[in-house]
This record gives sequence, structure tokens and C-alpha cells, in this order.
Amino acid sequence: MSKRVLTTESGAPVADNQNSASAGVGGPLLLQDQHLLEKLARFNRERIPERVVHARGSGAYGYFEVTDDVTGFTRADFLSEVGKRTETFIRFSTVADNLGGADAVRDPRGFALKFYTEEGNYDLVGNNTPVFFIKDPIKFPDFIHSQKRDPFTGKQEPDNVWDFWAHSPESTHQITWLMGDRGIPASYRHMDGFGSHTYQWTNAEGEAFFVKYHFKTNQGIRCLSSDQAAEIAGKDANSHQTDLLQAIERGVNPSWTLYVQVMPAAEAADYRFNPFDVTKVWPHADYPLQRVGRLVLDRNPDNVFAEVEQAAFSPNNFVPGITASPDKMLQGRLFAYADAHRYRLGVNHTQLPVNAPKNAPADNYGRDGFYATRYGSRHDKNYEPNSYDGPAQTDAPLGAPAEVSGWTGTYAYAQHVKDDHFFQAGELYRLMSSDEKDRLIANIAGGLSQVSRDDVIEKNLAHFHAADPEYGKRVEEAVRSLREDQ
Ligand code: HEM
Repeated sequence: MSKRVLTTESGAPVADNQNSASAGVGGPLLLQDQHLLEKLARFNRERIPERVVHARGSGAYGYFEVTDDVTGFTRADFLSEVGKRTETFIRFSTVADNLGGADAVRDPRGFALKFYTEEGNYDLVGNNTPVFFIKDPIKFPDFIHSQKRDPFTGKQEPDNVWDFWAHSPESTHQITWLMGDRGIPASYRHMDGFGSHTYQWTNAEGEAFFVKYHFKTNQGIRCLSSDQAAEIAGKDANSHQTDLLQAIERGVNPSWTLYVQVMPAAEAADYRFNPFDVTKVWPHADYPLQRVGRLVLDRNPDNVFAEVEQAAFSPNNFVPGITASPDKMLQGRLFAYADAHRYRLGVNHTQLPVNAPKNAPADNYGRDGFYATRYGSRHDKNYEPNSYDGPAQTDAPLGAPAEVSGWTGTYAYAQHVKDDHFFQAGELYRLMSSDEKDRLIANIAGGLSQVSRDDVIEKNLAHFHAADPEYGKRVEEAVRSLREDQ
């Protein structure tokens, strides 16, 4: 093999990569040293904006294989046949901290999955929790501000975290989840993934169903206690990244089994609570899990920046047979992600290899913009309709139409008659073993007792009382006792 030659960006060979060109041995540097100028300028431009949430993450390639027939529910081609395989890319993440934050922390984990289907890319951008803290996207920026670094102290503040929750009773279910054992997964391999929202599937006959996705880890659930996590985070801030990378390099390919809960569309209107409320789960007794297939991760990316940092997942990337539900949070997300990508990566981010629809190449009249690399032949027209056999619409909507009615306006929670905030938080509490309850109470009290304002503590306690009287009483006692010790 011939020796590789170091070159400038324009491909010219570089004579010296250790010494800048100067006027004489001790003299000032020369503006004509193109390699030096380019090297310094390029270095200054290495960073791009990090994700505003989920900044810290790890990615892997793999495949999804269908194991069970779901054609009765969806006409999605990648789910059309038992045994069919589709290439995937996943990015796991923590939510609150910035790039460089530790992996072993109490925080939800992102579970963002891209299926490179033959009908275009399908992105399922979920978490390791089946529910979320809020149910209206208008609250999301405030929620995230309260959980990330305070503008004055520059660090996460219990005062802000719990003040937001004091004003958001709908968070009680997710807080119970997050403060419980599953709040700190031992690794990305040892946790489940959820679509969290309700989505709509449509079959070949045009019948609509609402579905919830559950990815069950085949590695088994493993979690860390708060103390274990603090120790691990101190020793290896990248503990999840290390674990995932090494497992796949060793050929120990992690896998998940995908199940869905399926609700015939006609049942949604009369269900006993709002089935599009992302702060709630659907009881399995009402809608049992039905197996769909398995996700296997078998290849690490070659380059973390190119493939993981530049990965762009949008909940609005659907394929025929899969569309959005009326879930308000999901509707907000349909806008937020591609907008974030245009800001973070530019208008042509879909042309980057990790994001490009490699099994169904994009063909449309979108043109130009910074760093455009996709263009057709010299005969392609850039307008439509045209007389030159350019790409044309299919007239086939991705999913069944949805009927809506009502007056436009903003509706307070009190007007959502079936949107109780607390009963599922209470059910989750009562489901826990006595040990689990002890740890849950200790974790909540550990955080809440650090809050400086009594009124904020009282409002939060009221939420736990409303979920379950015993739950409320125990948190209250634990908080009081910790505050007396302070
Ligand atoms: C990342 C917005 C709720 C899961 C992001 C990003 C934004 C965002 C702007 C960064 C995207 C990027 O720069 O690539 C929102 C808004 C929400 C919301 C406005 C509510 C209205 C949720 C929910 C889930 C979720 C409910 C899970 C069910 C994720 C994940 C990522 C992410 C997994 C990381 C994606 C990746 O790995 O690149 N979110 N989010 N988000 N969000 Fe959300």
C-alpha cells in the first residue's frame, strides 16, 4: 500500500505539520502559510450547537426483524411480512444535562429509533418511560428550563425542579416513575424503550387503530441505586457509552422485543380516560401486549460526531400505515424536531449519510440551501407539475382520516373531564414492593427536602397525598425528618 500523504483541504501535499512558516528562524509567522491558517480556522469551527435537550447520548446501528403478523393493523411495508428485516439506527440519551454530563444519573433516557424502510425513514422518538411529565407542548420550554442549569447559579437547582412540579400536578405519575428504582438504569442495554405517545396505524382496508409501542429489553432490567450511581458517575462519566460500545465490539449484541397495545379507533372516544394523554399508560388488562418483532444492535458507528451528534430524529417522519394521533404533546413535537435540526445541522441535514433515507432515496423539488449535495440529472425540472416525468404525488394518504369537532380555543385541564392527574400515580405506588416504596420515598424526600420554600414543598406534598394517602403521608414524614436534621 502506498504511504498516505497529509494534504490541505484542497488536496495539496503538506510539507511540514510541526513548524509554522516564519520570517527567519525566530521571526513572526507568514500569512502565506495556508496550512496553518486553514488548520486554526477549521479547529475554531468544530463545535455545533448541542441538542437543547438529550445532548448527551450514544448511538448504534442494527436491524429490526418482524416475528409476528401485524398486517391486520397496519399496512406499513417494513412490518408486512414475518422475517422481514429493516436496517435501523438508534440513539440513547440522558435528558437534562449538557454534553459532557455523566451517564449514571437519575433522569429519563431517550430511545430514538430510525428505521431505514423501503418507503422512507420512519423515526420513533421515545423514552425509557411509558409516560411523560406534561401533556401540553406549550409547557415544554418552561419545564426544561426548570430542570436544566439555573441562569444565575449555572447548575441544576432543586428549587426550580420542584417549583415547576408544584405547578404541574400532571407530573406526579412520571415523578413516581423517575424517583423509583427504574429512574437510574444500569446501562442503555438494561432498560426498556417506549413510544410513550399514542400513534395511529391504518391497515390495507383503511381501518384505523391507535397503538402504543413497548420495547422490552432482552438483557433484563438492571438499575442503580442513587449511591451506586454517584460512585459510577464519579469513576466513569461515560459509563453507558462504555458499556454499549464494548458490548457491541465484543459481539454481545443487545436486543429488544417490540410489543404493541392496539386500540380499535372507534373505542377511543368512549375510553374511561383520554387515550391520547401522554401522562397515562393503558392498562394491559384493557389492551394486552401483542408481539411484533425484535430490534438487534450489531454495529458501532465509526465516527461519533458524524453519525451520532449529527443524527436527526423527527417524530414527524412517518411511513404509509403509521401516522400521528391527536395527542397534544405529540402534535407539538411534530414541529419541534425538524425545526431544531434546521437550526442545529442546517436545511440539508437529511442528506447526511446517517439521516438520508438510504432504502428509499428522496426525490422531490426541494432545492439548494447550504451544503446541498443531492441533485438530479441535468434533465430534471425544479417545479411541479411538469411534462417531463418528474416525481409526482401518490394520492394515497399515509393513514385514515380523523374526524374532529369543537370550537377553537385554549382549554384548561378542568375542561378535560377524563384527565385526572393522580390515579395512575397512586396505582404505580401501590404496585411497588415494600422495599421499592422505601427507596422511592427516600429519593423523593432527598430532593424535596432541599427546596427552600415551604409553599413549594406543601404543593408537592399535596400531589403525593392526592395519588395515595399513604404515599403522601410517608413522603411528608420523610421530608420533615430530613429538614429537622438540616
Ligand atoms: C430531543 C423537543 C417531548 C424524546 C428533543 C429535541 C427537541 C425536543 C427540540 C432536540 C432535537 C435535536 O436537536 O435533534 C421536545 C418537545 C417536546 C418533547 C417540544 C414536547 C412537546 C418529548 C417526549 C419524548 C421525547 C414526550 C419521549 C417520549 C426525545 C428524545 C430526544 C429528544 C429521545 C433525543 C433524540 C436524539 O437522540 O437525537 N426533544 N421534546 N421528547 N426528545 Fe423531545
